[in-house]
Amino acid sequence: MLTLKSVNVEIQNSTILRDISLTVAPGELVCLVGRNGAGKTTTFRSIMGFVKPKSGGIDWKGQSIAGMKTHQITRLGIAFSPEESEVFGDLTVAENIALPTETIKTERSAEERISLAYQIFPKLERYRDRSGMHMSGGERKMLSIARAVALDPQLLLLDEPFEGLSPAVIPSISEGIASIRKLGRAVLMAESNGYHIPDYADKVIVIERGEIVFGGTVSEARSNQMVSRIIGG
Ligand SMILES: Nc1ncnc2c1ncn2[C@@H]1O[C@H](COP(=O)(O)OP(=O)(O)OP(=O)(O)O)[C@@H](O)[C@H]1O
Ligand SMILES: [Mg+2]
Repeated sequence: MLTLKSVNVEIQNSTILRDISLTVAPGELVCLVGRNGAGKTTTFRSIMGFVKPKSGGIDWKGQSIAGMKTHQITRLGIAFSPEESEVFGDLTVAENIALPTETIKTERSAEERISLAYQIFPKLERYRDRSGMHMSGGERKMLSIARAVALDPQLLLLDEPFEGLSPAVIPSISEGIASIRKLGRAVLMAESNGYHIPDYADKVIVIERGEIVFGGTVSEARSNQMVSRIIGG
């Protein structure tokens, strides 16, 4: 469904991504892991059209999306929940979740999309009227992911959904990601800590200094010494 073919990205004359090739199939959960600065966010930003690759191809459902604008890519069914949770502080939780249904129309009704978002993180339902400004870090993460779900995407890019969260909140985020996948939506998530790779991931890809150095199943990743050295776990 999503295919990156030998993507090269240069920023200010230094190579940030080198020959990145990866695929995400429909409904698949793929975990892109690598240390801080390895190139995970740059990979996501290239897919979303924020960064223009110097060479290589990015195809979505057989169509090239390289060079497209971010809003066009979103319209085609790819949503992005950035590392720094994207939440509007002056809007309530309910307003934050409803917003994507106003900006992007899909075949599903707004009501259906909003209820899907609450289904992923039921806790948000209780906070409907709370202002985005008064959410904890974990709640902001949930809201940011819920907003991406309300876009009704076929593929969600989640950049470090567990980063900076206390161990107590991690299970509810993890359950949310599992339920997104149960809805049949594909997920490509970035992670810098091997301990956070979900057991239910279909594929693990390891990125190191802008290059992919490993691709395999979760158990292959966990028993690979090089992978453990890079990301622990
Ligand atoms: N706009 C930019 N200008 C200059 N360098 C950049 C820019 N964006 C990214 N880089 C560099 O590219 C490399 C990869 O960064 P990237 O943010 O993709 O890493 P990451 O794997 O997401 O790391 P983290 O786990 O810390 O989020 C880093 O060395 C970073 O400093
Ligand atoms: Mg990053």
